[in-house]
Amino acid sequence: MKKASVFALSISIFFLFSLIFQQISVSAQVLSSGEEIFTQGKCVRCHTIGKGRFVGPDLLGVGERYSRDDLIRWAKDPESLYSERKKKPVNEGYPPMPPMNLSESDAERVTDYLLEYTPPPGLSESGTIIGQVRNITTRKPQEGQDVVLISYMGDRKQERHFAKSDSLGAFSFSSLRWDRSYEIVLFHQGVQYVSGKMVFLPGKDEIILDLPVYDTTSSDENISLRSLNLIVYPDDGGTSVNVTSLYVFENSGDTVFTGEQTGSDATTLVFSIPEDAEDVTFSDSVDPEAVERKGENLYSKLPFLPGMKRIALGYSLPLSQIGEKFSIGFDYEVGDLAVFVRKTELGIRVKQPGAVAEEITIHDEAFLKYVLSDLEPGSVKVVVSNISFLKSNLGKYLPVILFFLFATGGIMYFLYGKKRFPSMNSDK
Ligand code: HEC
Repeated sequence: MKKASVFALSISIFFLFSLIFQQISVSAQVLSSGEEIFTQGKCVRCHTIGKGRFVGPDLLGVGERYSRDDLIRWAKDPESLYSERKKKPVNEGYPPMPPMNLSESDAERVTDYLLEYTPPPGLSESGTIIGQVRNITTRKPQEGQDVVLISYMGDRKQERHFAKSDSLGAFSFSSLRWDRSYEIVLFHQGVQYVSGKMVFLPGKDEIILDLPVYDTTSSDENISLRSLNLIVYPDDGGTSVNVTSLYVFENSGDTVFTGEQTGSDATTLVFSIPEDAEDVTFSDSVDPEAVERKGENLYSKLPFLPGMKRIALGYSLPLSQIGEKFSIGFDYEVGDLAVFVRKTELGIRVKQPGAVAEEITIHDEAFLKYVLSDLEPGSVKVVVSNISFLKSNLGKYLPVILFFLFATGGIMYFLYGKKRFPSMNSDK
């Protein structure tokens, strides 16, 4: 049950994204250089070239230890080397290397990069991270800002280093080891900013960062819902409907919206869901811990930075009655609202003044598309038509129907049977 609806949810999110972001075509043939393959997360997370051991061995001069073909196999599929050598790991004191799933040509390119790499002269013995904290709201450097640097070995936190920004908002951390990845965390007016993990790239002994922060506001005047797309996707059994809502919010100001106080917590965004919604899931951008459900509303406490915020929310609704109706609510005025309803035997329709359906096909599935515009906060009414629901749930309802038939039969007998056959009763 849970699995099925999550699956349907991911399908519908996929449909949704492909519809809305049609202009973004993901080209399979992204040509990148060997250096880019090495640095863009793949290999640098575990290897240095010429800076010593990290999670895996230093790859400087690795061409003297392996043939080009074997290096390609390391990059593409270490398992084949492990089974050939009957040794896993190959190097004492290291864990085995996980498969990187590179294509043949990417594996060749990264291998040639390793073979050709020569370290630049004059590289330091250790690394430096320098940065500037700029306050976008005041348009000034943020002076006296506490900055925390956390070092990691793999996923394990190692040490914390502390710095304070100067009058230009600048800070620096020096004497940093190569065999660590680093993350910067800072708090400004109670909002946390995290840099994401960084490593020193081959041939580089410096990382330069620009860290924007924003003042906070509790006013929602810059917050709006640009568009809302709803996908109503009944499961094939006809026993539940998955609803996915893709919200595109905008914070058009230059402050972080930290929410209006509701009770003990501040709420930034509100999402309406039907009371009987199950398996509520948010897209990755929303931490489920920062969302609280109270009846028909979900309250998010996440601070909202300037810019756009895309949020996908999914849930499933059990269909329990014949002729079920449900409403999908929204708490904001919305410029563009589109509802996509998968066409099935259930005959689901949107019942809303001005809602006209257009039939479209997405990935070989038929959908009804309704476009509504300039809506006040409210809800969209969705109706599941009776007959086909009864048909697909006949098994479930048959015992009930039979029970009623028998019960009515019994009552009829009780009421009329006595009079018609008085002798049978009087014999007893
Ligand atoms: C999750 C960590 C990790 C990532 C990411 C990773 N490796 Fe490795 N790599 C290792 C470990 C650990 C070893 C040692 C394994 C062993 O000895 O069996 C290793 C071994 C190697 C070796 C053999 C080194 C030697 O001296 O024997 C090569 C070559 C290599 N990796 C290339 C790459 C390339 C190229 C990439 C990126 C496409 C990459 N690795 C990504 C962890 C990683």
